[in-house]
Amino acid sequence: MYKLTILDECDSTQEELKKTLKDNEFLAIIAKKQFKGKGSYSREWISDPGGLYLSFNFPTIPLNLPASIIFSVIVAISLQEYVDHTLGKHLGIIYPNDLVVKLNGNYYKLGGILVEICGNNYVIGIGINVNNQVSNYQFEHKALSLNELSRIVNNKTYKFDVVDIAKNILDKVSLFYSSRIDIYQRLLELDFTHELKNVKILVFMDGEEVIDTFDNIKIDYNLKKIVLYKSRMRKDLEFEKVRRIFY
Ligand code: BTN
Repeated sequence: MYKLTILDECDSTQEELKKTLKDNEFLAIIAKKQFKGKGSYSREWISDPGGLYLSFNFPTIPLNLPASIIFSVIVAISLQEYVDHTLGKHLGIIYPNDLVVKLNGNYYKLGGILVEICGNNYVIGIGINVNNQVSNYQFEHKALSLNELSRIVNNKTYKFDVVDIAKNILDKVSLFYSSRIDIYQRLLELDFTHELKNVKILVFMDGEEVIDTFDNIKIDYNLKKIVLYKSRMRKDLEFEKVRRIFY
């Protein structure tokens, strides 16, 4: 379904896609390297060679969950199928758009999803650490690439095929478009958010963004709300009110 273009480099695949996108088209762009990769919350997405930098459009049809969650699940399912069983067990998501690796009880950022809207389309950006080396990065999240995970878990330095990973993701997205594969069950299996304890969260309350720490989080995807617990206090917030979870 997708017409895929592979660029050696560009500022941002998001901007490239928005420049060329017309209605009723399904376009996807990969770049081997980006100079101005965009992350969520207006952050930069460091885009060294070896990573996957993919953008594609998807019509803004009604979805029963936020797009960032749906596409995070689709990407996680696709990656789980792509890597071997041992690596697959470590992959999951943290609400609302982080792809993570769980290793020895710690969570490392493997990638992220950025959802923007352009006319009648979502423009979805996927950044995944694949063959690039990120374990020395000192951001708010510790990071890991698939290559580094494979070295730690399987004791093998394996070079993954970035274009193949992208095609696999686009196939899953096409399948979701044509037959609405059931995301819900997989979401519950893949979501590591519930496991986080004493977690710092950026919350939008009373008109401003505040960072607060909670003992526990529960996400109720049916009722589209997040339940936060602190001592004996319980706070229920709609999805949009929880902006970021630090882990
Ligand atoms: C996040 O902050 O977690 C989301 C990062 C999304 C990065 C991807 S890389 C491909 C696409 N092009 C961009 O400039 N950003 C997205």
